[in-house]
Amino acid sequence: MKQNVLSKMGQRTAVPPISWLMQTALTRPKLISLAAGFTDNSTLPVEISRQLLNEILRSPTTGQPALQYGITAGETNLRALTAKHLHKLDLQPLSPSSPSSSIKTKLKTRMKGEDVDEKNYSPERVLITGGSQQLLYLTLEALCDEGDIILVEDPTYFVFLSILQSRGIKARGVKLERDGIDLAHLEKVLERLKKSGELRRVKALYLVTYFQNPTGATTSLAKKSAALKLLKKFGRAAGHPLYLLEDAAYRELSFSGRADLPAGQSEQQLRPATPPTALTLPGAAERVIYTGTYSKPYAPGARVGFGILPEPLFTTVQRIKGNHDFGTANLLQQLLAGALASGLYDKHVAKVQKNYARKARVMKSALAEHFPASVEIWESGGGLYFWARLPKGISAGVKSRVFQTALKNDVLYVPGELCYADDPSRAKPDNEMRISFGSASEENIRKGIARLGKVLKKFV
Ligand SMILES: Cc1ncc(COP(=O)(O)O)c(C=O)c1O
Repeated sequence: MKQNVLSKMGQRTAVPPISWLMQTALTRPKLISLAAGFTDNSTLPVEISRQLLNEILRSPTTGQPALQYGITAGETNLRALTAKHLHKLDLQPLSPSSPSSSIKTKLKTRMKGEDVDEKNYSPERVLITGGSQQLLYLTLEALCDEGDIILVEDPTYFVFLSILQSRGIKARGVKLERDGIDLAHLEKVLERLKKSGELRRVKALYLVTYFQNPTGATTSLAKKSAALKLLKKFGRAAGHPLYLLEDAAYRELSFSGRADLPAGQSEQQLRPATPPTALTLPGAAERVIYTGTYSKPYAPGARVGFGILPEPLFTTVQRIKGNHDFGTANLLQQLLAGALASGLYDKHVAKVQKNYARKARVMKSALAEHFPASVEIWESGGGLYFWARLPKGISAGVKSRVFQTALKNDVLYVPGELCYADDPSRAKPDNEMRISFGSASEENIRKGIARLGKVLKKFV
């Protein structure tokens, strides 16, 4: 009898939806893609990168190490700069040059008087990877066997679901609200898994905490804290830690910038642009896995990601990365290190934020003009996406008339159903769509939404 030469994983791995979505977008020049999570070409840092690369390659002393293999955990300078950058984002979000005592008090109160563990921001805890996607993959490799369970937001980042599918890891969905997961539902799901004897197979809760892909929702610090407490509690019954896997890929794409102190604004009006990460919470050093990326704020083509992981995961993930590639491309790491150290990174991010804020406004007004009023729109304070929910009973799924008619009319969106895990305990909603303003020009955003609105008016 003929044997299948492929591994179980090889046989199991389905075509990732991302591949055919990208393929469709690339092979139909007239099509307006509001599907891709691509960043905007017009703001990619070509000049800055040329300047920085010239600097790196100006002499053999600086150029040779950059063109050589590096250290598996990442370039030392970039690890230190990344740790400092995260510390700044988490603990100095108000960033007046010398915080007044009342601002300091505010920061303390925000942390409910608990001191933040500064160790979480030490360079030795930072791992640099080939995009945060690699870190997500490595983490699952280190943590999960076939049949293990990861809890995910309902809906969530669909490429993460593809990893789970490929590796035979089960996913269980937790309902999502506009400020993050539904905590009561999280508790219910954990209780149910405890009752069925499956709790020991649960390894982590995966949250995309800032301007979430696909819905744009941002998780409040209060929700992260409550989720971490629940994971701690159920971890005792599981017999091992249940990790909070925080994916902060879109964190720096806030429309309100870094919330620098604007002239004339009183301290009372100050608000951090984004909530701090779960790294600021008590017990984070043992339970929080944090992943971030320089792709979205700087350049996906440089593809440098990073993370902070508790032991024993850090060491294990580092070893597995050693087997994959023994280190992320050194030249690209040096590029990012140069951007961060020179301050050019911060300047660039401010520009990117303004650009996306403007494009989001263009999409918002086009949605208001062209979409039927019965379509519920989730608007975000950052990121690349709007989330649209059609009235119940009207499918926007891959096989639906809405999706197929949209394709015929040369406009593409991501069907929301792709963002729901295969969870047998509930049916997948199919009446939603993710619409991105990331890569399309302002003109194409207007045209694309007008086309989509026309299609929807036929069916809604
Ligand atoms: C939520 C989320 N996490 C992680 C990634 C991976 O990005 P990268 O590998 O470029 O860091 C993406 C990319 O779109 C994303 O949307």
